[in-house]
Parts: sequence; structure tokens; C-alpha cells
Amino acid sequence: MNFDEIFSFFRDITSGLHHLHTNGYIHRDLKPSNCLLHNDGLKTSVHVSDFGEVQAANEQRTSTGATGTISYCAPEVLQRQGSGFGEFTTKSDIFSLGMIVYFMCFGRLPYQNADAANDENEDLDKLRAEVSAWHGFDDVTRARKDLPEKLYKFLKRLLSPNPVERPSTEQILQAIKAGGEIDDIPMNTQGITQVNLCTQKAHLYNPVASAGM
Ligand SMILES: Nc1ncnc2c1ncn2[C@@H]1O[C@H](COP(=O)(O)OP(=O)(O)OP(=O)(O)O)[C@@H](O)[C@H]1O
Ligand SMILES: [Mg+2]
Repeated sequence: MNFDEIFSFFRDITSGLHHLHTNGYIHRDLKPSNCLLHNDGLKTSVHVSDFGEVQAANEQRTSTGATGTISYCAPEVLQRQGSGFGEFTTKSDIFSLGMIVYFMCFGRLPYQNADAANDENEDLDKLRAEVSAWHGFDDVTRARKDLPEKLYKFLKRLLSPNPVERPSTEQILQAIKAGGEIDDIPMNTQGITQVNLCTQKAHLYNPVASAGM
């Protein structure tokens, strides 16, 4: 896909996700097969669909979410935290959004054990280990020289291992409106201490507890 297509689809999916997030919901299963293409004869747009896994943002996780592929899942969701797993948050949706953008850019995912064409071929345990150990988008390689710097900067922020370094849908939409630079968007420094703990000791990070709920 060329840059214009990628950016336009990115904006559409972010808008759909923004609608969910501002209404207090987390999608939890954001991936390409749940993004439907709509062609009105003039242009193609993307609609976010499949709300089967949607969860109210202030609810505790009720299922493992282990149905289907985990390729687009945020690392903190798959990391063990005490007796259970991490929580889904709006920021885990943002990570999935980042993986979709990654996939649109490179036509593959950054995991050895992910099979983009057929998720039934995936070795779930190996993939789970790879996703859990995600260290962030390595933009040094810049596999596609035709894509602009600003897209790489978005990928880096969206795919941050640290959830608070990921922008909100509102911040993304603002950045796109302002010309597509993510640089000026501040990170949510509140809770940075926890997030530093989170990267080092994932089980200490509990977004629900840290939000005071
Ligand atoms: N309303 C719709 N209109 C057109 N195509 C759809 C619609 N809903 C689903 N699809 C298509 O049907 C396919 C199967 O969708 P389905 O949601 O059952 O599975 P999935 O998205 O691959 O996995 P999951 O169950 O985890 O969401 C998708 O690839 C999607 O493109
Ligand atoms: Mg689906």
C-alpha cells in the first residue's frame, strides 16, 4: 500500500476507535479482519467492526481473550500478572492499531511465529512468548524508504512497549489534523513511575488499580 492509502486507513480506524473510546468502551479484538472496507464509488474508507469482544473501559477483564489470533495483541495483555493476565485498556487497543499500521506498511508482522495469511498455522505458545517480549518498533531498518519519517514516528509511539507512551485516539486525530507529526504530542507523564515498573516488572502494572478503581 502507498503512503496515502495507509494514512487514510489509519485515520479511519482511529476515528472508529475514538468513537468507542470516548463512549467508554475498549474493542479488545482490533485486527485487519475486523476492519471492513467500504467503497462508496468515489473512495474507499474503513469501518471498525466486530464488537463481540468489546468491554466497558472500567470493567475488569472477564475472559482470556485467547480466541483467534493474538498477533495484534498488546504485550502487557499477554504477560502474566500474579495469577492472571494483564488488563485490556484503551492503550492496548492503540497497540493493536499500531500493528495494523505496521501490517499495512510491510505486509507482514514483526514476529517469526505469526502467519499473516493463516492464523491457524501459528504456534500459539511461541507467538505468545514473542509478543510478551516485544521491545518496541525498531525503526533503524526502515524497510520501506518510500514511507515518510512521520509514519515511522507514529509506529514507534503506537507500538511502545510502555502503554503510557502510546498516544490516545484524540491525540492521534489532532496530530493528523495538524499535518501528521506525532512529535509535539506529550506523553502522559502521570504514572510514568508505574510504567517504568511495568516495563521492567510487568506484573506490577495494573491499569485498573492505578486508575483508582
Ligand atoms: N458486516 C460484514 N460485512 C462484510 N464482511 C464481513 C462483515 N462481517 C464480517 N465480514 C467478513 O467475514 C470474515 C469473517 O469475520 P469474523 O468476524 O467471523 O472472523 P474474523 O474477523 O476473522 O475473526 P474474529 O472472530 O476473531 O473477529 C472477515 O474476514 C470479514 O472480512
Ligand atoms: Mg471478525
